[in-house]
Amino acid sequence: MEMMGLCLSLVMVMVLLPLCHGDGLSISTQNLEVSKQLERLNKPSLKSIKSPDGDIIDCVHISHQPAFDHPLFKNHTIQKRPNYHPLGQIGEKKVSNVKVKSNGGKSTVISQLWQTSGRCPEGTIPMRRTRREDLLRASSITSYGKKKHKTIPKPPPAAATSANPDIISQSGHQHAIAYVEGDKYYGAKGTMNVWEPKIDQPNEFSLSQLWILGGSFASDLNSIEAGWQVSPDLYGDNNTRLFTYWTSDAYQATGCYNLLCTGFIQINNEIAMGATIYPLSAYGANQYDISILVWKDPKEGNWWMQFGSQYVLGYWPSYLFSYLADSASMIEWGGEVVNSASDGQHTTTQMGSGHFPGEGFGKSSYFRNIEIVDGSNNLRAPKDISTFTEQSNCYDVQTGKNGDWGNYFYYGGPGRNPNCP
Ligand SMILES: *[C@@H]1O[C@H](CO)[C@@H](O)[C@H](O)[C@H]1NC(C)=O
Ligand SMILES: *[C@@H]1O[C@H](CO)[C@@H](O)[C@H](O)[C@H]1NC(C)=O
Repeated sequence: MEMMGLCLSLVMVMVLLPLCHGDGLSISTQNLEVSKQLERLNKPSLKSIKSPDGDIIDCVHISHQPAFDHPLFKNHTIQKRPNYHPLGQIGEKKVSNVKVKSNGGKSTVISQLWQTSGRCPEGTIPMRRTRREDLLRASSITSYGKKKHKTIPKPPPAAATSANPDIISQSGHQHAIAYVEGDKYYGAKGTMNVWEPKIDQPNEFSLSQLWILGGSFASDLNSIEAGWQVSPDLYGDNNTRLFTYWTSDAYQATGCYNLLCTGFIQINNEIAMGATIYPLSAYGANQYDISILVWKDPKEGNWWMQFGSQYVLGYWPSYLFSYLADSASMIEWGGEVVNSASDGQHTTTQMGSGHFPGEGFGKSSYFRNIEIVDGSNNLRAPKDISTFTEQSNCYDVQTGKNGDWGNYFYYGGPGRNPNCP
């Protein structure tokens, strides 16, 4: 109805006869849709901060965040803090024998680039502003911020010895992960070093994250995801950014990245979803890592997320989910890339550092101190960790265990190489 109204008034004002026919209509309709979508995604801000990477960070009043546009959230009372925090989290053990710096460890530490330009006041949340060109890159304006394909790595049954062909063909997504399943999980944690993997094609991405999964791998899959990603499609550049994702129906109708739809409720005024992480690890030089903890509040049932050792970012309300309203049945940690094989060869998009696990510390990408939250709400070492990768000659994964790093693994690779043509 609104479209027709606009079309009509444009005709009356401009007296342009062909406006409602042919290309003129599609262009002006698209402009209108882009403007409307931008209005939905970007909220009035109390302050805006220009980040050195070109991003605008809007400081939006906490109660004006996009989640509250949805009728489902109409009566929602914002939880200011979790009722429960898994034991052993605060005051994380110092890693002493390796040179590692944690982004987001102390309040004075810069962990995102925009923080060099300012801060958001209390009572607001920092939101990366979505630009017109971000929407125009998406395949459709309303699909911006949503995954195009099912991208969950589904490992073959534990007994299988070789990857099943269904997995290899899964929309060209490739993974190198460690995972646990077969229990009830109430959260997961991991510390991963942060890199800027090279992306071969603009429609590909590379990410490192943890997955909290509930349900089968059918159309009812519930998933909460958080980590870092490089995605030219989503952000228009090759920067490494903090991200989250959620879905309650295997990426069909529900869910999105970051705050690009109703779902995650942010309470923190220091960390922006989708913003560039800083600084990054360099090959053979300083290593910087970030910690992510996601856990279920046993009282309210909400899934909380913490970044570093002190930033509690916010939560996904329990009622977004079906299976995850109770517990998770699988946890995964690791990397994922898109292999579009555009020229008939494997992509050169890197996973993690772009180097294989065998190169070890300072060169390969890692997850260390991976833990799960058990039925007593305690962080524990995961039992019976398995690994999975579609093509280990392209991207690989290797687990290990020691005193400081607990359960850890190296993962990643360069993609195309003589063994991965
Ligand atoms: C919000 O509260 C009103 C009044 O109590 C109620 O009628 C309505 O159904 C509630 N909406 C939701 C989404 O819970
Ligand atoms: C991203 O990196 C690719 C090469 O890896 C380059 O071709 C492309 O121009 C870069 N994109 C931007 C927006 O910088």
